[in-house]
Amino acid sequence: NQFDVIIRGGIVVTATDTFRADVGIRHGKIMTVANILTDGTKIIDASGLLVMPGGIDSHVHLAQPSFDGPAMADGFESGTRSAVAGGNTTVLPFALQPRGASLRSSVVNYHKEADGQSYCDYGFHLIVTDPTPSVLSQELPALVEDGYTSFKVFMTYDDLVLNDRQLLEVFSSARDCKALVMVHCEGYDAIRFMTERLEAVGKTAPYYHAVSRPESVEREATHRAISHAELTDVPIMIVHVSGREPMEQIRWAQNRGMKIYGETCPQYIALTSEDLKGLNMDETGGKYVCSPPPREKESWEAVWSGIKTGVFQTFSSDHCPFFYEGVGGKLNDKARTSFRWVPNGIPGVETRLPILYSRGVAEGRITVNEFVALTSTNHAKIYGLYPEKGSIAPGFDADIVLWDPNRKETISQRLMHHGADYTPYEGQQVTGWPVMTLLRGKIVAEEGKIVGSKSDGRFLKRRLSPYAMPGSNR
Ligand code: URP
Ligand code: ZN
Ligand code: ZN
Ligand code: ZN
Repeated sequence: NQFDVIIRGGIVVTATDTFRADVGIRHGKIMTVANILTDGTKIIDASGLLVMPGGIDSHVHLAQPSFDGPAMADGFESGTRSAVAGGNTTVLPFALQPRGASLRSSVVNYHKEADGQSYCDYGFHLIVTDPTPSVLSQELPALVEDGYTSFKVFMTYDDLVLNDRQLLEVFSSARDCKALVMVHCEGYDAIRFMTERLEAVGKTAPYYHAVSRPESVEREATHRAISHAELTDVPIMIVHVSGREPMEQIRWAQNRGMKIYGETCPQYIALTSEDLKGLNMDETGGKYVCSPPPREKESWEAVWSGIKTGVFQTFSSDHCPFFYEGVGGKLNDKARTSFRWVPNGIPGVETRLPILYSRGVAEGRITVNEFVALTSTNHAKIYGLYPEKGSIAPGFDADIVLWDPNRKETISQRLMHHGADYTPYEGQQVTGWPVMTLLRGKIVAEEGKIVGSKSDGRFLKRRLSPYAMPGSNR
């Protein structure tokens, strides 16, 4: 047979086009996209379904140790299982450098966690916490060469924060090795100040997590990162942008012609700071503690305007799962004493696509092509995976999600494949749901069942990002 698999009768959707066509797959690659194809070993009936590039989630945390001890609820096995169930075919988690350790040894450790344990393809961003001269001048360039072409830096968290001098050194090194820098923009000192002030008057419930880091704190750090990117003339990606104020900083920089990119996440269009409310630690506020925190409901439309007008190129989950109950959970003994000890982060790799499709496409805020760009194509382009990943066209990997645009579901822990014991989107109703996920031509998830194996995923050595090329920020 000419094709191993033919996906027949669906509507193919790319970042630019929507058309009825069959997709012919051979040896894991898309070989032909044409009106009618025959001669396939296996025929998949996609009538009534959208045929879209598999989701690429460029911001997930798996198997990452956290500063205050609690173990993450997902390693690679459960995290990527959840990813494919949610219509994703590639994830980009982080390899965190503990202070004092080498970047390379951290990468080796994460490979031990991931290799042979992944249901989908994966690459790694680095997290630089200890930018010593040898890390910046030797380790980083060597790792970029090896396909780890992006890394994240933090402007807050005790064990991760870099000061301004360090940020400038790191940005400047990124420029030299053409790596793309992702920046967590929240101001360390302001958060510490607010946290101590709140704790001093007994305001320790989870809700005060949001009060301790308001939008102004994120806006200030976003502006500071942009200024540093201007001084060093290096493009940067501002990750997990929560609302209007930081978004307006990015728009301001983009309007000046700077290469400043933006990412936003489901929690900023589907959760609010009200969700963190609770009078004491036994209420459920801790389930929603992530940073930056979800904002007011009015903030949702501001984020949508940023999505619609291109301020944001990527929509990622920032999947960072912790258990709610039990030892090491969000309600652990220390966490009950103050919001400051509640592990930061929420699960979301499985619900990212349904939430954006439902609130975005089904409710008429974005087109289905914008959906594909925001969930797949732009991630591939920005993080050096194009043209293998991120579209439906001859030569691309056959990473495909078959999507039922009319399926109504109620998000529930019962449906999830992640390791966590809850979903923060419990009870939310969505229209649009993945019915089948193919990784390089192989069905890995179907109707909520995992049919792939944890040895299916491959490590992706990524090329340099064209988005990281310097020359326009000053
Ligand atoms: O609260 C969050 N988002 N935790 C994950 C770590 C990060 O900053 O992305
Ligand atoms: Zn074959
Ligand atoms: Zn972050
Ligand atoms: Zn994150």
